[in-house]
Amino acid sequence: MSNEQGATALAGEDVMGPTGRPLTEFPEPPVLNSHGPARIIAMVNQKGGVGKTTSTINLGAALAEAGRKVLLVDFDPQGALSAGFGTNPHELDITVYNVLMDRKVDIRDAIIETGVENIDILPANIDLSAAEVQLVNEVAREQVLASALRKVEDDYDVVLIDCQPSLGLLTVNALTAAHGVIIPLICEFFALRAVALLVETIDKVQDRLNPGLQVDGVLATMYDARTLHGREVLARLVEAFGDKVFETVIKRTIKFADASVAAEPITSYAANHPGADAYRRLAKELIARGGSP
Ligand SMILES: Nc1ncnc2c1ncn2[C@@H]1O[C@H](COP(=O)(O)OP(=O)(O)OP(=O)(O)O)[C@@H](O)[C@H]1O
Ligand SMILES: [Mg+2]
Repeated sequence: MSNEQGATALAGEDVMGPTGRPLTEFPEPPVLNSHGPARIIAMVNQKGGVGKTTSTINLGAALAEAGRKVLLVDFDPQGALSAGFGTNPHELDITVYNVLMDRKVDIRDAIIETGVENIDILPANIDLSAAEVQLVNEVAREQVLASALRKVEDDYDVVLIDCQPSLGLLTVNALTAAHGVIIPLICEFFALRAVALLVETIDKVQDRLNPGLQVDGVLATMYDARTLHGREVLARLVEAFGDKVFETVIKRTIKFADASVAAEPITSYAANHPGADAYRRLAKELIARGGSP
C-alpha cells in the first residue's frame, strides 16, 4: 500500500470512526430534575486486565459530570475500584462482603462518599473472596446482591458493578441484579475467544434468573489505531456484535495508569485529555441508547 493510500484510509477512518460506522454527534444528556430509580449495569468480562475497573471508574465519573447520581459497586476482592478512589480497602470495617453475608448490615452503612461529586462507592476488600464459597449454601444465592441494591435504588440514577475476572457466583449475582451488561474488551485477538463463554453465561442468566437482562454494549478498550492488529480485531468485533459495539472506542494511553496512581478518574486527573473525552462520549452514547437515564 502506498503512503498516499494509507493516508486516505486513515482520513476515511477518521470520518467513519474506528468501528467503520459514520461518527455520530451524540446529544448532550438531558438535565435530570429528580433522581432514581437506578439503572443497574454490570461491567463483565471473565478475562483479566481488559479495562473493567478503568471503565467503571471513568464511565461513572463521566455520568456523574453529566449530573447523574452514580453508585459504583466494587465486586472484586482485589478492591481495585475502591483503591481507585483513594480508599484503603484493608482499613474498611464494613464492605460489600458484610452486606452480602449479613442481612442485618444496612447497605447504607457500607456505602462511602468519594471526593468526586455525585459518586458514591460500595467498597470491597479481600474479605469478598470468601463470599463465593459462603454464598453457595444460601437460599436464593444468586439474588443476594439484587436484594441489597433494592434498598438504595431510588437514591441513584445509575449503578455500575465492577466484576472480578470470573464467571462464578459473584458475577452471576451481578448479572442477576443488573438491567444491562457492558462488556469491556481489549482489542487483541486472544481476547475475542473469551467472549463466547461470556455470552453463554449471559444467556443462561437471562433464561433462568433475569429475563429482562440486556447487553447494553461491547466496549473496545486499549485500541491502537496505528496497528493493523488493532484495526482487524475491531473489525472482527463489529462482525460478531454489529451495532452492539459502542461507536466510542477507548484508545490505549498511559494516562489511565497515571490517573489510578493519583486515585482519581481521568475526567478530573486530566480533564482535557482525549481519554477523558472518550469516556464522556461513551456516557453520551450510553444515555442516547437508553442505557442510562
Ligand atoms: N485505555 C487504556 N490504555 C492503556 N492502559 C489501560 C487502558 N485501560 C486500562 N488500562 C490499564 O490496564 C490495566 C488493566 O485495566 P483494568 O484494571 O481496568 O482491567 P480489569 O479488566 O478491571 O482487570 P481485572 O480483570 O484484573 O480486574 C491497568 O493497569 C490499567 O491502568
Ligand atoms: Mg478490575
